[in-house]
Amino acid sequence: MFKDLWKRRVEIVETNLIEELRRTKSLDEKIMQAMEYSLMAGGKRLRPILLMAAADASGDNGEKYLQVASALEMIHTYSLIHDDLPAMDNDDYRRGKLTNHKVFGEAMAVLAGDGLLNLAFEVALRQKDVPHEILFNVLEEIIKASGVAGMVGGQVIDLLSEGIQIDLATLKLMHTGKTGALFKAAIRSGALLAQAPADKLDALTRYAENFGLAFQITDDILDVEGDAKILGKATGSDAKKHKSTYVSLTSLDEAKKLAQETVNDAINALKIFGSEADFLRELVQYLIGRKK
Ligand code: IPE
Ligand code: IPE
Ligand code: MG
Ligand code: MG
Ligand code: MG
Repeated sequence: MFKDLWKRRVEIVETNLIEELRRTKSLDEKIMQAMEYSLMAGGKRLRPILLMAAADASGDNGEKYLQVASALEMIHTYSLIHDDLPAMDNDDYRRGKLTNHKVFGEAMAVLAGDGLLNLAFEVALRQKDVPHEILFNVLEEIIKASGVAGMVGGQVIDLLSEGIQIDLATLKLMHTGKTGALFKAAIRSGALLAQAPADKLDALTRYAENFGLAFQITDDILDVEGDAKILGKATGSDAKKHKSTYVSLTSLDEAKKLAQETVNDAINALKIFGSEADFLRELVQYLIGRKK
């Protein structure tokens, strides 16, 4: 049931992503090809799925919010294209394919990321059936989460921490930014769109914070012991770049223990919900045992 719903919604999101690309007016075709290459390369589509699941948990139907959900996937994909650039992590594979810059060149990859980031907001503004004030609040969440107080800020800490010893508090801050912020924005956006009451919004926020942390700890673990073929990206990338990760700062076992504790905290945060939050409960537990 949980996997079926996930799969069905991935199809809905992907159909919409391709439609949004098709209806976009661009001065040039090459940039659209570069954007489509990474956006349609697969991926778990977690951020759109989380937005929808949070709206469901708040008593709404998450599928109504397809445009905002699609925008999140565009922002995420832009962040991956830039993350893989030689100036950043210098990776050759992503989502089972050559990275964007390997196919289109570095300059075009930079622009493809820029194009996706801006398209995200064009698409989010196409969201129908939401009062303007609510959409405004949701966009503010997403914009802040993507910027220097969130994802970009976390990426900066990541870069500045290469090759040096940082403490656990700094590591947590880095994870909270580079990965956690967009997850949190996705979940809070779903709740805000569904006009969830304050206690539910708070509970979902706590779930989101733990979800993001557990997810990035698992990403760090998979970089050490994952299978590159299944993952669709190289393993050993963090060690090669002397990155600070949960594994490098603690140990593989400690990182796994912490990931499970964080998952438990995420599930505990959902106590006030009934079965309408089962998808969220199952998803977070599933994701720390994932292979990709
Ligand atoms: C990978 O994100 C990068 C991180 C933020 C850790 P995902 O694991 O969600 O990547 P896709 O979207 O499934 O490819
Ligand atoms: C990337 O973190 C986070 C963002 C793209 C914002 P990582 O560098 O750990 O992601 P992977 O391992 O390359 O997917
Ligand atoms: Mg990185
Ligand atoms: Mg990377
Ligand atoms: Mg990683």
